[in-house]
Amino acid sequence: MFTRRNILSGLGAGAISTVLPGLSWADTINRPLAMPPLLDATDTGRFRLTAQSGKMNFLGQSKSETWGFNQTYLGPTVRMTNSGAVRAEIENTLDEAISVHWHGMIIPGDVDGGPHQPIAPGTTWAPELPVDQAQATIWYHSHIHGETARQVQKGLAGVLQLSDGLDADRGLPSTYGLDDLTLVLQDRRFDRRGRMDYSLSMPDQMMGFLGDTMVINGQVGATAVVPKGITRLRLLNGSNSRIYGLSMSDERAMHLIATDNGLLDRPIALDALTLAPGERYEVLVDFTDGNEVSLISAQSANMGMMGGGMMGGNRTSGPPFTVVPFRVDSALNAPIAALPEDLGGSRPDMDARGATQRSIALEMAMGPGMMMGRGSDRFSINGESFDMQRTDFAVQRSVLQRWSVSANMMMHPFHVHGVTFQVLTENGGAPKPQNTGWKDTILIDGRAELLMRFDQPASAELPYMFHCHILEHEDGGMMGQFTVT
Ligand code: C2O
Ligand code: CU
Ligand code: CU
Repeated sequence: MFTRRNILSGLGAGAISTVLPGLSWADTINRPLAMPPLLDATDTGRFRLTAQSGKMNFLGQSKSETWGFNQTYLGPTVRMTNSGAVRAEIENTLDEAISVHWHGMIIPGDVDGGPHQPIAPGTTWAPELPVDQAQATIWYHSHIHGETARQVQKGLAGVLQLSDGLDADRGLPSTYGLDDLTLVLQDRRFDRRGRMDYSLSMPDQMMGFLGDTMVINGQVGATAVVPKGITRLRLLNGSNSRIYGLSMSDERAMHLIATDNGLLDRPIALDALTLAPGERYEVLVDFTDGNEVSLISAQSANMGMMGGGMMGGNRTSGPPFTVVPFRVDSALNAPIAALPEDLGGSRPDMDARGATQRSIALEMAMGPGMMMGRGSDRFSINGESFDMQRTDFAVQRSVLQRWSVSANMMMHPFHVHGVTFQVLTENGGAPKPQNTGWKDTILIDGRAELLMRFDQPASAELPYMFHCHILEHEDGGMMGQFTVT
């Protein structure tokens, strides 16, 4: 792996603030963190993304071959109305099929962008998205079956903001890149020459890819510069499999204001926040004291029954690592000085009586089968690996659904297309505070019961997906599909 000297000589200068023992997580350097470019489609009602290849220099050494939308790696933050039709145009200039799925958008199956809607090389897909839901931070990413992990790892992902334009009235930080930060968390690996490396070991294939270097918005070793006031962090876990156990290095509170699909009624002060692949959370952090502080994470807790020692590598437990350091610049305008009390959002509270019941077991093959199973038959749901040709079940539109989802061997982040759900119970008890808002992805650690109602249709030709968001598990068959009629 790279050394401190490589990083320093490559990136020029700056003081090292953190080097973690036992891991080569990137040293932190005083380079300001850049936001993804903002592509504001709220006025025009249309936007265009061009999937393209490029070369990205992450570490100041050799360049990596990467993909992005409208740029070298990842895509812009697309801001659009939360209520009204939006025309998207996605041009694929790559030499293989991709798709663009709107993760968290509650729209019909025929514009959902899943594995049945490949965009062939050299073509453009131009769906009209009938957006009508609460404002939220959601995201987009490629979703070609069997290729999702590799394509997302190469950079085919970005953030979407569904906006009603009222955040300033709510007293929420809303100046993009000033006090309203988009943070795409990804862990990546680099080879000795500094090129991004996605070769999968057996543990990677089984438990999901884990990197050893933090990449935020496509940048290694950058510091987020914030005003002396309240800053909003829109956190997206865009990693293939890493689950972050987030906290602030000085234990100050993170005030949770939004979950996957929208604002809460009021902020919830947390000292720890778990962020699983596919999830988004928005938190407010108070930087008024001007002190330097970092967002840090515990090591991956997702070793399940396989243990760390035998699998070795990056899966050992250890001290927390830096996700992103913050520096307060008191010269910056700080628009928001106090936490709002009323966020104007909601927490789901549906009446579960009479709901249609369904059990969903997320499964990994055990024993010798685990090592010998190949690609698409290692992982399954209710005994079946994903099959593009098979509809797993049909859901009745507008009828309340109660899904009991269980995970074996490991924790699995479970995601459902086309809906937002209430977490009714976790392991028989009340949901964790961070799971009391509207969600489309939830980390299943044991069993959870979810309540949801589908309002949009999905046909057998263009069905909705439900799957584990550890991308190596999803590609390996831990996915199913269903219709809504
Ligand atoms: Cu984020 Cu089916 O995906
Ligand atoms: Cu999705
Ligand atoms: Cu999984």
